[in-house]
Amino acid sequence: MQTPAPGTLRILHLSDTHLTGDGALHQGSVDTTAALDAVLAHVDGVPGVGLVVISGDVSEDGTPESYRAVRERVGAWAERHGAAFVAVPGNHDLREGFRQVLANGHVLGPGGTPLAHTTEYLPPSVPVSGQTTVAGFRIVTVDTSVPGAGYGEVSETALERLRAALTGDPVPHGTVVVLHHPPVPAPTLLHEALRLQNPEDLAELLEGSDVRVVLGGHQHHHAAGSLAGVPVLVAPGVANDTDVVGRYDEESAHVAHGALVVDVAVDGSVWSTPVRAPDPDRDALAFALDAGTVARIAAQAGPDAR
Ligand SMILES: [Fe+2]
Repeated sequence: MQTPAPGTLRILHLSDTHLTGDGALHQGSVDTTAALDAVLAHVDGVPGVGLVVISGDVSEDGTPESYRAVRERVGAWAERHGAAFVAVPGNHDLREGFRQVLANGHVLGPGGTPLAHTTEYLPPSVPVSGQTTVAGFRIVTVDTSVPGAGYGEVSETALERLRAALTGDPVPHGTVVVLHHPPVPAPTLLHEALRLQNPEDLAELLEGSDVRVVLGGHQHHHAAGSLAGVPVLVAPGVANDTDVVGRYDEESAHVAHGALVVDVAVDGSVWSTPVRAPDPDRDALAFALDAGTVARIAAQAGPDAR
């Protein structure tokens, strides 16, 4: 993949890893630990990643063991690539287990250095929130989970914290917001029923702010939209891929694992490249050109040939 332009923040956007503490299969069919390993291995050659995010449903069962498995795997990847690492809870997460291992979700800072956290106890009723600055971008995590529920909501507390973050000291290149329930319509009835309930409250804060992009998950399928003029990117699931073109009132998913590579430039431009971990049994190579052949075609068919 092309190296990002200087100053651009490249984000590896993972979502819905759904790891289990005891290695149990997700929905009885997917080894999510193996799926995460496959996605991380597939993107290992992506250059210039400055930040890795997991936009919720980090764990399937909320156990500290499941968070430790994520911390170990994604943390090691981020450290090796010199990237920060940030995670936010989703509806499957339990704030207690999440905090025990990932603290406020801002696990690694710029360059992949561990961040220090206070050990103050917070009850599960308090949303997990945090912010860090990476390469001149403010990274703000917003906990949209509602304890005991599947739908999402930006609570009064979470809204207040986001407002405080956005009106705090200015940062050179703007803000990236990471949350689980994306503020866009869902393709299936089940996900629509479990969507973010108050996107208008979020829109009010985004309006006129320095937010460049909102990164979400939850739908287990890549989607792109906008809210208050701000791009909203939904990452494909690491655990599985929702069938979005089936009957609206039914729900099914395929065994497929993906992520996004999101570039946020210093002028606020945003690009997203979806990636999917290939299945060696199904994904035969269609063609492969070596560098010499690519250079020849580029020279012959590009503007330099005119
Ligand atoms: Fe999920």
